[in-house]
Amino acid sequence: MIDELKSGIVRSAIFHTPRNAFQSNTSLEMFADGALVMEAGRIVALGDFSQVRRLHPSVPVHDLSGGFVLPGFIDTHVHYPQTRIIGGLGYSLLEWLNKHALPEELRMVGRDYAAAVASEFLHALASHGTTAALVFGSHFVPAMELLFDAAIASGQRIVSGLVVSDRVLPAGLLQTPDQAYLGNNELIRRIRNHRNLGYAVTPRFALSASDAMLEVCQTLLKENPASLFQTHINENLHEMAEVQALFPDAGDYLGVYEQFNLTESRSILAHNLHPTGSELARMAASKVSVAHCPCSNAALGSGLFPMRRHLEAQVHFALGTDVGAGTGFGMLKEGLQAYLLQRIHGEGFSLTPEQLLYLATRAGAEALGLEEETGDFSIGKSADFVYLRPLSGSPLAAAVAHADSATQILASLFTLGDSHCVKEVRVSGRVIYQS
Ligand code: GUN
Ligand code: ZN
Repeated sequence: MIDELKSGIVRSAIFHTPRNAFQSNTSLEMFADGALVMEAGRIVALGDFSQVRRLHPSVPVHDLSGGFVLPGFIDTHVHYPQTRIIGGLGYSLLEWLNKHALPEELRMVGRDYAAAVASEFLHALASHGTTAALVFGSHFVPAMELLFDAAIASGQRIVSGLVVSDRVLPAGLLQTPDQAYLGNNELIRRIRNHRNLGYAVTPRFALSASDAMLEVCQTLLKENPASLFQTHINENLHEMAEVQALFPDAGDYLGVYEQFNLTESRSILAHNLHPTGSELARMAASKVSVAHCPCSNAALGSGLFPMRRHLEAQVHFALGTDVGAGTGFGMLKEGLQAYLLQRIHGEGFSLTPEQLLYLATRAGAEALGLEEETGDFSIGKSADFVYLRPLSGSPLAAAVAHADSATQILASLFTLGDSHCVKEVRVSGRVIYQS
């Protein structure tokens, strides 16, 4: 009954970070025996179960005791057409694109192929506890329609857009700026009235977009103020040198996007491993967000994320899996990898468990402009959550049973947790995954 009504009390240990965990040392809130009260898919109360129960004595209880309820994960950078090619190890970026990723992206021209990948992709997000994602789309309009239609059916929060490119890539992936304009508009119209969907203008990267194509992106953003902007930046040193050669007047990589007014608070730029100090200062001033994708950065050997420099410059960042260069859909794994790589970075920033949770949830909502809607369990927000339950007898079960603090439990979840312990996932109180 609780599923149909999207109303009721969820009883469990509950964690969330309703404040920025880099700015506050009281960002983590935890209720060991907690209650999250949902009404029509919205959060109306949060607290200790015994107190909340007294105030809501007749509301049905969904008892998830024995596990942990966290805000649904928010993946700020994940490529839908690359779902089937995770694990192409041994390449660097441009080689990986040419030999591994782009041949697969060409296959998305087939409707049946794209429909199957869309379904696998959305299932993979949900089964890893991800309730919202900024998705790098396909180069083909029908493949995008299929993704959006599948997301309407599943109820997941998906912000995505047609990938546009008019040079450098294989011919089958190119469109003219005019075709890109029309294709984007068709898709924007299609999703306009769907609450959980959003649109993102998506040039693949500066390397594959001419001035004329970036102008189209600028026009689309101007005409569609609710749309986001996403692309790649400063990922790989060879890529950066080629961008410099193609845009000799831009000064640096960010300068290319700035020339077309593509850097603002609704812009999410993936990677940013090799920024100059000037680029970081300009990113902070224009309030862009960075999608930090540590598994991909390591897999492609792209480099180490200068997290401390982003923090010092006050550039906002959140986590992305960057599937398929990334190593899977798990945001717990992404958090662990962020932590591990910072530990071996000469000037790394040692992340706390609270910061990992913030980066995997609320920080992503902030990047996507969804912080009033999701990302933590503040009253009035949508009931978007993941329920993690360690497998009985597993090292994770032992670790959380013997943990002496909330932060230690969280650290163990990020270290040992994976999709096997994702038991239930909801968006607006509606079940999108159960195992
Ligand atoms: N830069 C341009 N396209 C891609 C892509 O598909 N993956 C990554 N990691 N970087 C890119
Ligand atoms: Zn990417």
